[in-house]
Amino acid sequence: MKDLIGIKELSKQDIEEILNTAKAFKEVLQRDIKKVPTLRGRTAINLFFEPSTRTRTSFELAEKRLSLDVLNFSVSTSSVVKGETLYDTLKTIESYNVDYIVLRHSSSGTAKFVAENTSASVINAGDGTNEHPTQALLDAFSILEIKGRLDGLKIAIVGDIIHSRVARSNLYLLSKFDTEIRFVGPPTLLPQEIPDNVKIFFNLKEGIEDVDVVMILRIQLERQKGAFIPSLKEYSHFWGLKKDLLNYIKKDAVVMHPGPMNRGVEISTEVADSSQSLILRQVTNGIATRMAVIYMLKPKEV
Ligand code: CP
Repeated sequence: MKDLIGIKELSKQDIEEILNTAKAFKEVLQRDIKKVPTLRGRTAINLFFEPSTRTRTSFELAEKRLSLDVLNFSVSTSSVVKGETLYDTLKTIESYNVDYIVLRHSSSGTAKFVAENTSASVINAGDGTNEHPTQALLDAFSILEIKGRLDGLKIAIVGDIIHSRVARSNLYLLSKFDTEIRFVGPPTLLPQEIPDNVKIFFNLKEGIEDVDVVMILRIQLERQKGAFIPSLKEYSHFWGLKKDLLNYIKKDAVVMHPGPMNRGVEISTEVADSSQSLILRQVTNGIATRMAVIYMLKPKEV
């Protein structure tokens, strides 16, 4: 593959191959010397048109661990603020003969557009409400580390699903395995079209009952054009995952959140910092998973 635009385009075998490669890279990351010479002499650019903490820093670390030369493009100090188009920015970057472009953008479909207009390998680091494929891959990797399998698991995705590229990528990934997928949230935050393999719950306790994994999503106020919820206080009351609700999930169930979290809104501090929380493990696993993705892509020969 030249690019990673979404999980939708991947087969189950592709996903398993990426996750196995990530496992090998995680072992490398636990050594004294955490770097491999694999991609020495090649160049990656991180092109982030939207804010990011975890994705941007873990891509940069992944690239450096693979011995890539790394350029970080800061939109706020670039000629984008003077009105330069995405196409012209792309062609400028391409003139440097870069091999990998990691792209985050607020518009769905941007990663595909960029991939179609460059010979570099493009990795979608989140495009609008469309997909965030490396997040779903690192989530699957984290579940596999703890549970040893994806098949047979019950997984509840809770909250602002309609605006979530993380939810879409996870839906595509988990649907390729034999999992029970639940969408849990208020009707206004669930997509209009929901695949047949997804169970819908409009009640948090019922939705998380007896599940193996709860994925809590951030309320994305920046993408909400209109009143999707009456207030954050009310949302937190009905949909926030608090400690007492952990009694409803399986005893060995885990809680995940892609970050950034709104503590006290969709997740309480007690739950976020509990022994059942995988949140920091997800962050750690971002590096090995993103190393695997970069390593497996092949830029076009020019
Ligand atoms: N999960 C995630 O995409 O976090 P950032 O926005 O901090 O990269």
